[in-house]
Amino acid sequence: MFFKRWFQRKPEHEDGHYRHGNEHLIELRRVVKTFETAAGKFTVLKGVDVSVDQGEFVAVIGKSGSGKSTLVNMITGIDHPTSGEVLVGDTAVHTLSESKMAVWRGRNLGIIFQFFQLLPTLSLIENVMLPMDFCNMFSSGERYKRALRLLEQVDMAEHAHKLPSAVSGGQAQRVAIARALANDPPILVADEPTGSLDSKTASSVFELFEGLISQGKTIVMVTHDNDLARRASRAVIVVDGQVTNQYVTRALPNLNVDQMTWVARQIERQTYEAGATIVTQGEMADRFYIITRGEVEIFLPHPDGQEIIVDRLGSGKYFGEIGLISEGTRTATVRATPDGEVEVATLSREAFGKLLQDSEETRDVMSRITHERIERDRSRDQQRTATRNMNGQT
Ligand SMILES: Nc1ncnc2c1ncn2[C@@H]1O[C@H](COP(=O)(O)OP(=O)(O)O)[C@@H](O)[C@H]1O
Ligand SMILES: [Mg+2]
Repeated sequence: MFFKRWFQRKPEHEDGHYRHGNEHLIELRRVVKTFETAAGKFTVLKGVDVSVDQGEFVAVIGKSGSGKSTLVNMITGIDHPTSGEVLVGDTAVHTLSESKMAVWRGRNLGIIFQFFQLLPTLSLIENVMLPMDFCNMFSSGERYKRALRLLEQVDMAEHAHKLPSAVSGGQAQRVAIARALANDPPILVADEPTGSLDSKTASSVFELFEGLISQGKTIVMVTHDNDLARRASRAVIVVDGQVTNQYVTRALPNLNVDQMTWVARQIERQTYEAGATIVTQGEMADRFYIITRGEVEIFLPHPDGQEIIVDRLGSGKYFGEIGLISEGTRTATVRATPDGEVEVATLSREAFGKLLQDSEETRDVMSRITHERIERDRSRDQQRTATRNMNGQT
């Protein structure tokens, strides 16, 4: 039902449903969250943009206190943004009243917490039936059978009539997942679902999520576990209440939470106009660049004195590493393409050096790519020389 509404987006504003031109299943736009505390105002989310497409498995990672829970609480409507928009399917979540929110959430989202939050006085199967009762989904005769099927899916059917206190943490989390699936929501939001489980149990719970992705669900999962985060299709990294640009994350996929947090704090953003020169061949290399918007062209000097374009790079690609790694001058000139502005995230020579020192994987990947780039330029040079010699002979 949710999907039907989502695909047949209606133009009218009613009950928080409106046409917002949102091409993503989940979208946070410029979300700010400020808490008023005894000590004063405290801004936890500082203008966050996040989008998630249908079928994605997104890991939300970041240090403790960075704002991960606050961020996912915006998606579930457990908490309201101070400003900004939260769009889920065709629902503007930030506009829903408390009462509408509860029903909307119950039907469209499955939520999983670190500490299961099963009701202690109800049996496991009663816990799974609860969301169906609450949202009045499925006929009352169907609910029991459906709950049992869901418990089978998470391998807990044989314990259906036990109380939560009679099963282990891993088992309780499986039941919590079954409960989250009760109303067949298209989206699951999980906040550290494996946080209180040992690594083997965590891995088996994670496998359940992977299975749900293959059934077409969309999952947003907060985790502090780097190994699990890598198995998701993409990571959203929260640093000091801000989300690290997704192209920076893509350009440096091998960093752990601490390393990425450090990098995010070192980054300086810069914008270049169409056609502007970003680095110049022959100058000393002093910065490393990751493209976050637009495209650049890489120029090498041609023996005739002209320049030739040897490559074109877009968002998520980096440049400027060759000169830094060789501690020398720029081997090429890089310019914004003539057709549009370019936005880059840059690191100083020192920060880049520390990054390579701290992350062996990044160092390996980068030296491989650098090697490929140097080889490419060299073979192009050789080809050119050969062509010239041939032309000379005729
Ligand atoms: N209701 C609240 N009132 C005041 N401060 C809060 C509240 N909720 C969270 N915070 C603060 O916001 C920061 C981020 O919290 P949280 O989103 O829970 O971080 P994370 O999940 O990444 O550990 C923390 O410093 C926390 O103390
Ligand atoms: Mg948290």
